[in-house]
Amino acid sequence: MAKTDSIVSFEKTSFDYGQNKPILDEANFVIRRGTKITFMGQNGAGKSTIFQLITKALKPESGKVNLTNGVTIALSRQVIPRPDLELTVRAFFEKCFTEKVYDIDPRIDAVLEVVNLKGHAKMHERIVKSFSGGQQARLLLASALIQDPDLLLLDEPTNNLDKAGIEHLTQFLTGYKKTVVVISHDADFLNAFTDGVLYLDIHTRKVEQYHGNYFDVVKEISARIEKENRKNAQLAKEIQDNKDKANFFAQKGGQMRLVAKRMREKAEELEDEKVDVRKEDRTIRPFEIPHQDMLGELVNISSYTVISKNHKPVARKSHISLKRGQHLLLRGPNGIGKSTLLEAMARGTAPGTKITDGVKVGYYRQDFSTLNFDETVLKSLMTAAGGFDQERVRAVASGFLITSDVIDTKIGSLSEGQKGLVAFARLVLEKPGFLILDEPTNHINFRHLPLIAKALSEYKGAMILVSHVPEFVAQIRIDETLDLEK
Ligand SMILES: Nc1ncnc2c1ncn2[C@@H]1O[C@H](COP(=O)(O)OP(=O)(O)OP(=O)(O)O)[C@@H](O)[C@H]1O
Ligand SMILES: [Mg+2]
Repeated sequence: MAKTDSIVSFEKTSFDYGQNKPILDEANFVIRRGTKITFMGQNGAGKSTIFQLITKALKPESGKVNLTNGVTIALSRQVIPRPDLELTVRAFFEKCFTEKVYDIDPRIDAVLEVVNLKGHAKMHERIVKSFSGGQQARLLLASALIQDPDLLLLDEPTNNLDKAGIEHLTQFLTGYKKTVVVISHDADFLNAFTDGVLYLDIHTRKVEQYHGNYFDVVKEISARIEKENRKNAQLAKEIQDNKDKANFFAQKGGQMRLVAKRMREKAEELEDEKVDVRKEDRTIRPFEIPHQDMLGELVNISSYTVISKNHKPVARKSHISLKRGQHLLLRGPNGIGKSTLLEAMARGTAPGTKITDGVKVGYYRQDFSTLNFDETVLKSLMTAAGGFDQERVRAVASGFLITSDVIDTKIGSLSEGQKGLVAFARLVLEKPGFLILDEPTNHINFRHLPLIAKALSEYKGAMILVSHVPEFVAQIRIDETLDLEK
Protein backbone atom coordinates (compact mmCIF):
# COMPACT_ATOMS: atom_id res chain seq x y z
CA MET A 1 0.00 0.00 0.00
CA ALA A 2 1.45 3.38 -0.98
CA LYS A 3 2.23 5.54 1.99
CA THR A 4 0.40 8.52 0.50
CA ASP A 5 -2.77 6.47 0.63
CA SER A 6 -2.92 6.49 4.39
CA ILE A 7 -4.42 9.34 6.39
CA VAL A 8 -3.68 7.83 9.83
CA SER A 9 -1.49 4.92 10.80
CA PHE A 10 -0.62 3.32 14.12
CA GLU A 11 2.83 1.74 14.28
CA LYS A 12 3.60 -0.57 17.21
CA THR A 13 1.51 1.75 19.34
CA SER A 14 1.11 0.96 23.03
CA PHE A 15 -1.05 2.83 25.52
CA ASP A 16 -2.31 2.27 29.05
CA TYR A 17 -4.11 4.21 31.80
CA GLY A 18 -1.63 3.11 34.45
CA GLN A 19 -0.42 -0.32 35.54
CA ASN A 20 -3.64 -2.30 35.53
CA LYS A 21 -5.25 -0.62 32.56
CA PRO A 22 -3.56 -1.63 29.31
CA ILE A 23 -5.43 -0.54 26.18
CA LEU A 24 -3.07 -1.11 23.22
CA ASP A 25 -0.09 -3.45 22.97
CA GLU A 26 2.03 -2.66 19.91
CA ALA A 27 -1.00 -2.23 17.69
CA ASN A 28 -0.64 -1.65 13.95
CA PHE A 29 -3.31 -0.39 11.57
CA VAL A 30 -3.84 2.00 8.70
CA ILE A 31 -6.80 4.17 7.76
CA ARG A 32 -6.77 5.02 4.07
CA ARG A 33 -7.87 8.33 2.65
CA GLY A 34 -11.44 8.41 1.40
CA THR A 35 -12.58 5.23 3.15
CA LYS A 36 -15.45 4.77 5.58
CA ILE A 37 -14.36 2.63 8.45
CA THR A 38 -16.16 1.16 11.44
CA PHE A 39 -14.49 0.69 14.80
CA MET A 40 -15.70 -2.26 16.85
CA GLY A 41 -14.83 -3.83 20.19
CA GLN A 42 -16.20 -4.67 23.59
CA ASN A 43 -17.38 -1.93 25.98
CA GLY A 44 -14.34 -0.55 27.75
CA ALA A 45 -11.89 -2.03 25.23
CA GLY A 46 -10.58 1.45 24.40
CA LYS A 47 -12.27 2.62 21.21
CA SER A 48 -12.89 6.16 22.44
CA THR A 49 -9.33 6.18 23.76
CA ILE A 50 -8.03 5.42 20.26
CA PHE A 51 -9.93 8.44 18.94
CA GLN A 52 -8.16 10.54 21.52
CA LEU A 53 -4.83 9.14 20.39
CA ILE A 54 -5.70 10.13 16.81
CA THR A 55 -6.60 13.69 17.83
CA LYS A 56 -3.41 13.79 19.93
CA ALA A 57 -5.40 14.57 23.08
CA LEU A 58 -3.58 11.51 24.48
CA LYS A 59 -0.01 10.40 23.77
CA PRO A 60 1.06 6.79 23.22
CA GLU A 61 3.34 5.14 25.76
CA SER A 62 5.48 3.87 22.90
CA GLY A 63 5.22 3.49 19.14
CA LYS A 64 3.73 6.03 16.80
CA VAL A 65 0.50 7.60 15.68
CA ASN A 66 1.24 8.99 12.20
CA LEU A 67 -0.99 11.59 10.60
CA THR A 68 -0.51 12.67 7.01
CA ASN A 69 0.83 16.21 6.87
CA GLY A 70 -1.72 18.97 7.21
CA VAL A 71 -4.67 16.66 7.80
CA THR A 72 -7.55 18.27 9.69
CA ILE A 73 -9.51 16.13 12.13
CA ALA A 74 -12.81 16.68 13.90
CA LEU A 75 -14.22 14.45 16.60
CA SER A 76 -17.86 14.09 17.53
CA ARG A 77 -17.66 12.67 21.03
CA GLN A 78 -19.78 9.97 22.55
CA VAL A 79 -21.37 12.43 25.01
CA ILE A 80 -21.18 16.17 25.57
CA PRO A 81 -18.68 16.79 28.39
CA ARG A 82 -20.58 17.97 31.49
CA PRO A 83 -19.09 21.52 31.62
CA ASP A 84 -20.08 22.11 27.98
CA LEU A 85 -23.72 21.48 28.86
CA GLU A 86 -23.82 24.92 30.46
CA LEU A 87 -22.71 26.74 27.27
CA THR A 88 -25.00 28.49 24.82
CA VAL A 89 -25.32 26.87 21.41
CA ARG A 90 -23.18 29.63 19.91
CA ALA A 91 -20.41 29.24 22.51
CA PHE A 92 -20.55 25.46 22.07
CA PHE A 93 -19.81 25.85 18.35
CA GLU A 94 -17.26 28.62 18.87
CA LYS A 95 -15.29 26.21 21.05
CA CYS A 96 -14.70 24.01 18.00
CA PHE A 97 -12.34 26.58 16.53
CA THR A 98 -9.02 27.83 17.82
CA GLU A 99 -9.52 31.21 16.15
CA LYS A 100 -12.50 33.53 16.23
CA VAL A 101 -14.97 32.84 13.43
CA TYR A 102 -16.80 35.96 12.28
CA ASP A 103 -19.67 34.44 10.35
CA ILE A 104 -20.43 31.73 12.90
CA ASP A 105 -24.23 32.23 13.08
CA PRO A 106 -25.02 31.38 9.44
CA ARG A 107 -22.52 28.52 9.59
CA ILE A 108 -24.25 27.09 12.66
CA ASP A 109 -27.60 27.27 10.89
CA ALA A 110 -26.22 25.60 7.77
CA VAL A 111 -24.75 22.71 9.73
CA LEU A 112 -27.85 22.31 11.92
CA GLU A 113 -29.80 21.94 8.69
CA VAL A 114 -27.54 19.01 7.79
CA VAL A 115 -28.30 17.24 11.08
CA ASN A 116 -31.99 17.93 10.71
CA LEU A 117 -32.30 20.45 13.53
CA LYS A 118 -33.91 23.74 12.60
CA GLY A 119 -31.57 26.56 13.65
CA HIS A 120 -32.58 30.18 14.26
CA ALA A 121 -31.08 33.23 15.94
CA LYS A 122 -32.96 32.68 19.20
CA MET A 123 -31.78 29.12 19.39
CA HIS A 124 -28.13 30.18 19.41
CA GLU A 125 -28.72 31.70 22.84
CA ARG A 126 -30.20 28.54 24.30
CA ILE A 127 -28.20 26.51 26.81
CA VAL A 128 -27.05 23.13 25.51
CA LYS A 129 -28.49 21.15 28.41
CA SER A 130 -31.98 22.48 27.68
CA PHE A 131 -32.05 20.27 24.56
CA SER A 132 -33.35 16.71 24.57
CA GLY A 133 -30.94 13.77 24.35
CA GLY A 134 -31.62 13.31 20.63
CA GLN A 135 -31.17 17.01 19.95
CA GLN A 136 -27.90 17.00 21.89
CA ALA A 137 -26.75 14.08 19.74
CA ARG A 138 -27.45 16.27 16.70
CA LEU A 139 -25.55 19.21 18.22
CA LEU A 140 -22.55 16.95 18.83
CA LEU A 141 -22.56 15.74 15.28
CA ALA A 142 -22.93 19.27 13.96
CA SER A 143 -20.00 20.43 16.08
CA ALA A 144 -17.74 18.07 14.13
CA LEU A 145 -19.28 18.78 10.72
CA ILE A 146 -18.93 22.54 11.11
CA GLN A 147 -15.15 22.07 11.04
CA ASP A 148 -15.34 20.43 7.58
CA PRO A 149 -12.43 18.11 8.43
CA ASP A 150 -10.43 15.76 6.16
CA LEU A 151 -10.99 13.05 8.75
CA LEU A 152 -14.31 12.83 10.58
CA LEU A 153 -14.36 10.74 13.77
CA LEU A 154 -17.82 9.85 15.07
CA ASP A 155 -18.13 8.14 18.44
CA GLU A 156 -21.52 6.38 18.73
CA PRO A 157 -23.45 8.97 16.71
CA THR A 158 -26.75 7.06 16.68
CA ASN A 159 -27.28 6.99 20.45
CA ASN A 160 -30.48 8.84 21.27
CA LEU A 161 -31.33 9.48 17.62
CA ASP A 162 -34.84 8.54 16.55
CA LYS A 163 -35.56 6.66 13.32
CA ALA A 164 -35.72 9.81 11.22
CA GLY A 165 -32.44 11.02 12.70
CA ILE A 166 -30.64 7.77 11.94
CA GLU A 167 -31.97 7.68 8.37
CA HIS A 168 -30.85 11.24 7.82
CA LEU A 169 -27.37 10.55 9.18
CA THR A 170 -27.02 7.36 7.10
CA GLN A 171 -27.86 9.29 3.96
CA PHE A 172 -25.43 12.02 4.83
CA LEU A 173 -22.56 9.60 5.47
CA THR A 174 -23.29 7.61 2.32
CA GLY A 175 -22.82 10.77 0.27
CA TYR A 176 -19.88 12.09 2.31
CA LYS A 177 -16.74 12.45 0.19
CA LYS A 178 -14.02 12.47 2.85
CA THR A 179 -12.64 9.94 5.31
CA VAL A 180 -14.93 8.83 8.15
CA VAL A 181 -14.34 6.52 11.09
CA VAL A 182 -17.43 5.56 13.08
CA ILE A 183 -17.69 3.76 16.40
CA SER A 184 -21.14 2.25 16.71
CA HIS A 185 -22.91 -0.83 17.95
CA ASP A 186 -25.76 -0.41 15.48
CA ALA A 187 -25.05 -3.07 12.84
CA ASP A 188 -27.73 -2.00 10.37
CA PHE A 189 -26.55 1.57 10.47
CA LEU A 190 -22.92 0.54 9.90
CA ASN A 191 -23.72 -1.83 7.07
CA ALA A 192 -25.28 0.99 5.12
CA PHE A 193 -21.98 2.67 4.34
CA THR A 194 -18.79 1.03 5.63
CA ASP A 195 -15.89 -0.19 3.47
CA GLY A 196 -14.01 -1.88 6.26
CA VAL A 197 -13.84 -2.68 9.95
CA LEU A 198 -11.19 -2.15 12.58
CA TYR A 199 -11.64 -4.51 15.50
CA LEU A 200 -10.03 -3.73 18.83
CA ASP A 201 -9.46 -7.10 20.48
CA ILE A 202 -9.66 -6.71 24.27
CA HIS A 203 -7.73 -9.98 24.81
CA THR A 204 -4.70 -9.25 22.64
CA ARG A 205 -4.88 -5.43 22.85
CA LYS A 206 -4.29 -5.31 19.11
CA VAL A 207 -6.34 -3.88 16.27
CA GLU A 208 -7.45 -6.29 13.54
CA GLN A 209 -8.24 -4.98 10.09
CA TYR A 210 -11.06 -6.37 7.90
CA HIS A 211 -12.62 -5.52 4.54
CA GLY A 212 -16.32 -5.37 3.90
CA ASN A 213 -19.19 -4.61 6.21
CA TYR A 214 -20.11 -5.77 9.67
CA PHE A 215 -21.84 -8.98 8.57
CA ASP A 216 -18.83 -9.97 6.43
CA VAL A 217 -16.62 -9.47 9.45
CA VAL A 218 -18.75 -11.57 11.76
CA LYS A 219 -18.66 -14.35 9.16
CA GLU A 220 -14.92 -14.00 8.66
CA ILE A 221 -14.21 -14.09 12.39
CA SER A 222 -16.28 -17.19 13.03
CA ALA A 223 -14.70 -18.91 10.00
CA ARG A 224 -11.31 -18.05 11.40
CA ILE A 225 -12.12 -19.38 14.87
CA GLU A 226 -13.44 -22.58 13.30
CA LYS A 227 -10.28 -22.99 11.21
CA GLU A 228 -8.05 -22.42 14.24
CA ASN A 229 -10.04 -24.91 16.30
CA ARG A 230 -9.85 -27.48 13.49
CA LYS A 231 -6.10 -27.06 13.17
CA ASN A 232 -5.65 -27.52 16.93
CA ALA A 233 -7.89 -30.59 16.98
CA GLN A 234 -5.82 -32.14 14.18
CA LEU A 235 -2.60 -31.38 16.06
CA ALA A 236 -4.00 -32.76 19.30
CA LYS A 237 -4.76 -36.01 17.49
CA GLU A 238 -1.22 -36.27 16.07
CA ILE A 239 0.27 -35.48 19.46
CA GLN A 240 -1.76 -38.23 21.08
CA ASP A 241 -0.70 -40.70 18.33
CA ASN A 242 2.95 -39.90 18.95
CA LYS A 243 2.57 -40.29 22.69
CA ASP A 244 0.78 -43.63 22.33
CA LYS A 245 3.52 -44.90 20.03
CA ALA A 246 6.22 -43.59 22.38
CA ASN A 247 4.66 -45.56 25.25
CA PHE A 248 4.47 -48.64 23.09
CA PHE A 249 8.14 -48.50 22.07
CA ALA A 250 9.32 -47.54 25.54
CA GLN A 251 7.91 -50.82 26.89
CA LYS A 252 9.88 -52.82 24.33
CA GLY A 253 13.12 -51.57 25.89
CA GLY A 254 16.57 -51.70 24.26
CA GLN A 255 17.01 -49.82 20.98
CA MET A 256 13.33 -49.07 20.91
CA ARG A 257 13.75 -46.57 23.76
CA LEU A 258 15.49 -44.23 21.31
CA VAL A 259 12.54 -44.42 18.95
CA ALA A 260 10.25 -43.65 21.89
CA LYS A 261 12.30 -40.58 22.73
CA ARG A 262 12.06 -39.29 19.15
CA MET A 263 8.29 -39.76 19.25
CA ARG A 264 8.03 -37.77 22.46
CA GLU A 265 10.12 -34.97 20.97
CA LYS A 266 7.87 -34.92 17.94
CA ALA A 267 4.82 -34.59 20.24
CA GLU A 268 6.43 -31.61 21.95
CA GLU A 269 7.18 -29.95 18.61
CA LEU A 270 3.58 -30.37 17.57
CA GLU A 271 2.46 -28.88 20.87
CA ASP A 272 4.31 -25.68 19.93
CA GLU A 273 2.50 -25.54 16.60
CA LYS A 274 -0.89 -25.14 18.27
CA VAL A 275 -2.34 -21.73 17.50
CA ASP A 276 -3.97 -19.26 19.82
CA VAL A 277 -7.64 -19.38 18.99
CA ARG A 278 -9.16 -15.94 18.66
CA LYS A 279 -11.21 -15.36 21.79
CA GLU A 280 -14.68 -13.91 21.47
CA ASP A 281 -15.60 -10.72 23.24
CA ARG A 282 -17.32 -11.44 26.51
CA THR A 283 -21.04 -11.17 27.08
CA ILE A 284 -22.68 -10.24 30.36
CA ARG A 285 -24.14 -13.04 32.47
CA PRO A 286 -27.92 -13.59 32.19
CA PHE A 287 -29.55 -11.64 35.02
CA GLU A 288 -32.84 -10.81 36.69
CA ILE A 289 -34.01 -7.56 38.21
CA PRO A 290 -35.71 -8.60 41.45
CA HIS A 291 -38.86 -6.62 42.20
CA GLN A 292 -40.21 -5.14 45.39
CA ASP A 293 -43.32 -7.19 46.10
CA MET A 294 -46.36 -4.91 46.38
CA LEU A 295 -50.01 -5.50 45.55
CA GLY A 296 -52.57 -3.29 43.83
CA GLU A 297 -52.02 -0.22 41.71
CA LEU A 298 -48.39 0.97 41.76
CA VAL A 299 -48.57 3.89 39.34
CA ASN A 300 -51.45 5.94 37.96
CA ILE A 301 -51.08 8.39 35.06
CA SER A 302 -54.18 10.55 34.62
CA SER A 303 -52.47 13.30 32.61
CA TYR A 304 -49.07 14.23 31.23
CA THR A 305 -47.34 17.10 29.43
CA VAL A 306 -45.58 17.05 26.05
CA ILE A 307 -43.82 19.72 24.00
CA SER A 308 -45.73 20.61 20.86
CA LYS A 309 -44.21 21.38 17.42
CA ASN A 310 -44.19 25.11 18.26
CA HIS A 311 -42.24 24.42 21.48
CA LYS A 312 -45.20 24.94 23.84
CA PRO A 313 -46.02 22.53 26.66
CA VAL A 314 -49.39 20.85 26.12
CA ALA A 315 -51.23 18.83 28.80
CA ARG A 316 -53.08 15.67 27.79
CA LYS A 317 -55.40 13.31 29.60
CA SER A 318 -54.82 9.59 29.97
CA HIS A 319 -56.16 6.57 31.87
CA ILE A 320 -53.15 4.47 32.67
CA SER A 321 -52.90 2.30 35.71
CA LEU A 322 -49.87 0.09 36.22
CA LYS A 323 -50.02 -2.87 38.56
CA ARG A 324 -47.40 -5.47 39.34
CA GLY A 325 -45.85 -6.86 36.16
CA GLN A 326 -47.36 -4.28 33.78
CA HIS A 327 -45.09 -2.75 31.18
CA LEU A 328 -45.79 0.56 29.42
CA LEU A 329 -43.92 1.73 26.31
CA LEU A 330 -43.67 5.50 25.71
CA ARG A 331 -43.25 6.50 22.09
CA GLY A 332 -42.53 9.82 20.40
CA PRO A 333 -39.94 11.66 18.30
CA ASN A 334 -36.80 13.39 19.63
CA GLY A 335 -37.64 16.49 21.60
CA ILE A 336 -41.28 15.74 22.45
CA GLY A 337 -40.44 15.56 26.15
CA LYS A 338 -40.06 11.88 26.97
CA SER A 339 -37.02 12.25 29.22
CA THR A 340 -38.48 15.32 30.93
CA LEU A 341 -41.61 13.36 31.70
CA LEU A 342 -39.68 10.32 32.95
CA GLU A 343 -37.47 12.46 35.12
CA ALA A 344 -40.43 14.21 36.73
CA MET A 345 -42.04 10.80 37.32
CA ALA A 346 -38.87 9.48 38.93
CA ARG A 347 -38.75 12.48 41.24
CA GLY A 348 -42.42 12.09 42.03
CA THR A 349 -43.15 15.61 40.78
CA ALA A 350 -44.93 14.84 37.48
CA PRO A 351 -48.38 16.44 37.63
CA GLY A 352 -50.90 13.71 36.82
CA THR A 353 -48.66 10.81 37.84
CA LYS A 354 -49.28 9.23 41.20
CA ILE A 355 -46.85 6.66 42.54
CA THR A 356 -48.33 4.63 45.39
CA ASP A 357 -46.69 5.35 48.76
CA GLY A 358 -43.84 3.04 49.59
CA VAL A 359 -43.09 2.02 45.98
CA LYS A 360 -39.38 2.10 45.34
CA VAL A 361 -38.45 3.70 42.00
CA GLY A 362 -35.52 2.38 39.94
CA TYR A 363 -34.49 4.95 37.38
CA TYR A 364 -32.17 4.28 34.42
CA ARG A 365 -31.31 7.67 33.07
CA GLN A 366 -30.33 8.35 29.48
CA ASP A 367 -27.28 10.46 30.35
CA PHE A 368 -26.31 8.60 33.55
CA SER A 369 -26.63 11.87 35.49
CA THR A 370 -28.14 10.02 38.44
CA LEU A 371 -24.72 8.42 38.92
CA ASN A 372 -22.20 10.26 41.06
CA PHE A 373 -19.14 10.53 38.80
CA ASP A 374 -16.75 11.13 41.73
CA GLU A 375 -17.73 7.93 43.49
CA THR A 376 -16.02 4.60 42.84
CA VAL A 377 -18.06 1.86 41.19
CA LEU A 378 -17.93 -0.19 44.38
CA LYS A 379 -19.27 2.67 46.52
CA SER A 380 -22.09 3.35 44.08
CA LEU A 381 -23.09 -0.31 44.00
CA MET A 382 -22.84 -0.66 47.79
CA THR A 383 -25.24 2.28 48.18
CA ALA A 384 -27.66 0.66 45.73
CA ALA A 385 -27.45 -2.58 47.75
CA GLY A 386 -28.41 -0.73 50.92
CA GLY A 387 -24.86 -0.72 52.29
CA PHE A 388 -24.19 -4.37 53.07
CA ASP A 389 -23.05 -7.66 51.56
CA GLN A 390 -19.99 -6.61 49.62
CA GLU A 391 -19.47 -10.15 48.39
CA ARG A 392 -22.82 -10.18 46.63
CA VAL A 393 -22.17 -6.72 45.21
CA ARG A 394 -18.88 -7.92 43.70
CA ALA A 395 -20.55 -11.01 42.30
CA VAL A 396 -23.33 -8.98 40.66
CA ALA A 397 -20.74 -6.53 39.29
CA SER A 398 -18.66 -9.27 37.72
CA GLY A 399 -21.75 -10.56 35.91
CA PHE A 400 -21.85 -7.16 34.22
CA LEU A 401 -18.13 -7.43 33.33
CA ILE A 402 -17.24 -4.95 36.07
CA THR A 403 -14.18 -6.88 37.14
CA SER A 404 -11.87 -6.31 40.09
CA ASP A 405 -9.59 -4.05 38.04
CA VAL A 406 -12.53 -1.77 37.23
CA ILE A 407 -14.53 -1.78 40.47
CA ASP A 408 -12.31 0.73 42.28
CA THR A 409 -12.37 3.15 39.33
CA LYS A 410 -14.34 6.39 39.67
CA ILE A 411 -17.55 6.25 37.67
CA GLY A 412 -16.46 9.37 35.77
CA SER A 413 -13.52 7.59 34.16
CA LEU A 414 -15.47 4.52 33.04
CA SER A 415 -16.24 4.11 29.36
CA GLU A 416 -19.83 5.03 28.46
CA GLY A 417 -20.85 1.41 27.96
CA GLN A 418 -19.38 0.49 31.34
CA LYS A 419 -21.47 3.26 32.92
CA GLY A 420 -24.56 1.67 31.38
CA LEU A 421 -23.64 -1.74 32.75
CA VAL A 422 -23.07 -0.24 36.21
CA ALA A 423 -26.52 1.36 35.98
CA PHE A 424 -28.02 -2.08 35.31
CA ALA A 425 -26.07 -3.64 38.18
CA ARG A 426 -27.53 -0.94 40.43
CA LEU A 427 -31.07 -1.82 39.38
CA VAL A 428 -30.42 -5.48 40.21
CA LEU A 429 -29.22 -4.49 43.69
CA GLU A 430 -31.97 -1.92 44.30
CA LYS A 431 -34.98 -4.24 43.86
CA PRO A 432 -37.34 -1.52 42.62
CA GLY A 433 -41.14 -1.83 42.50
CA PHE A 434 -41.41 0.65 39.61
CA LEU A 435 -38.76 0.68 36.91
CA ILE A 436 -38.24 3.70 34.65
CA LEU A 437 -35.92 3.15 31.71
CA ASP A 438 -34.79 5.94 29.42
CA GLU A 439 -32.93 4.63 26.35
CA PRO A 440 -31.27 1.69 28.10
CA THR A 441 -29.42 0.50 24.96
CA ASN A 442 -27.27 3.60 24.46
CA HIS A 443 -23.54 2.84 24.32
CA ILE A 444 -24.11 -0.80 25.21
CA ASN A 445 -22.51 -3.46 23.02
CA PHE A 446 -25.10 -5.24 20.88
CA ARG A 447 -24.14 -8.70 22.15
CA HIS A 448 -25.55 -7.83 25.60
CA LEU A 449 -28.89 -6.54 24.34
CA PRO A 450 -30.82 -9.84 24.13
CA LEU A 451 -29.94 -10.53 27.78
CA ILE A 452 -31.04 -7.08 28.85
CA ALA A 453 -34.27 -7.43 26.85
CA LYS A 454 -34.94 -10.75 28.58
CA ALA A 455 -34.40 -9.29 32.05
CA LEU A 456 -36.76 -6.40 31.31
CA SER A 457 -39.35 -8.73 29.77
CA GLU A 458 -39.38 -10.86 32.89
CA TYR A 459 -39.37 -7.97 35.33
CA LYS A 460 -42.36 -8.38 37.63
CA GLY A 461 -42.78 -4.84 38.92
CA ALA A 462 -44.38 -1.92 37.02
CA MET A 463 -42.24 -0.61 34.18
CA ILE A 464 -42.11 2.35 31.79
CA LEU A 465 -39.71 2.14 28.84
CA VAL A 466 -38.47 4.65 26.30
CA SER A 467 -36.27 3.30 23.51
CA HIS A 468 -35.60 4.35 19.94
CA VAL A 469 -34.38 0.87 18.97
CA PRO A 470 -37.33 -1.10 17.51
CA GLU A 471 -35.45 -4.45 17.38
CA PHE A 472 -34.80 -4.13 21.11
CA VAL A 473 -38.35 -3.16 21.99
CA ALA A 474 -39.67 -6.06 19.91
CA GLN A 475 -37.95 -8.48 22.30
CA ILE A 476 -39.63 -7.05 25.41
CA ARG A 477 -43.03 -7.88 26.80
CA ILE A 478 -45.10 -4.68 26.53
CA ASP A 479 -48.69 -4.47 27.76
CA GLU A 480 -49.58 -0.95 26.73
CA THR A 481 -48.17 1.75 24.46
CA LEU A 482 -48.58 5.48 24.88
CA ASP A 483 -47.79 7.41 21.71
CA LEU A 484 -46.99 10.97 22.78
CA GLU A 485 -47.40 12.32 19.25
CA LYS A 486 -51.07 11.34 19.01
N1 LIG B 1 -9.08 8.71 32.47
C1 LIG B 1 -9.10 7.41 32.70
N2 LIG B 1 -8.48 6.87 33.78
C2 LIG B 1 -8.48 5.56 34.02
N3 LIG B 1 -9.11 4.66 33.24
C3 LIG B 1 -9.75 5.12 32.16
C4 LIG B 1 -9.78 6.51 31.84
N4 LIG B 1 -10.50 6.65 30.71
C5 LIG B 1 -10.87 5.42 30.35
N5 LIG B 1 -10.42 4.49 31.21
C6 LIG B 1 -10.60 3.04 31.12
O1 LIG B 1 -10.05 2.62 29.88
C7 LIG B 1 -10.85 1.64 29.26
C8 LIG B 1 -11.22 2.09 27.85
O2 LIG B 1 -12.14 3.15 27.87
P1 LIG B 1 -12.82 3.72 26.54
O3 LIG B 1 -13.74 4.80 26.94
O4 LIG B 1 -11.78 4.06 25.54
O5 LIG B 1 -13.63 2.42 26.02
P2 LIG B 1 -14.59 2.23 24.77
O6 LIG B 1 -14.08 1.09 23.97
O7 LIG B 1 -14.82 3.50 24.08
O8 LIG B 1 -15.92 1.69 25.48
P3 LIG B 1 -17.50 1.99 25.19
O9 LIG B 1 -17.91 1.04 24.11
O10 LIG B 1 -18.15 1.58 26.45
O11 LIG B 1 -17.66 3.41 24.85
C9 LIG B 1 -12.03 1.40 30.20
O12 LIG B 1 -11.77 0.24 30.96
C10 LIG B 1 -12.07 2.63 31.09
O13 LIG B 1 -12.55 2.29 32.37
MG1 LIG C 1 -16.42 4.73 23.96
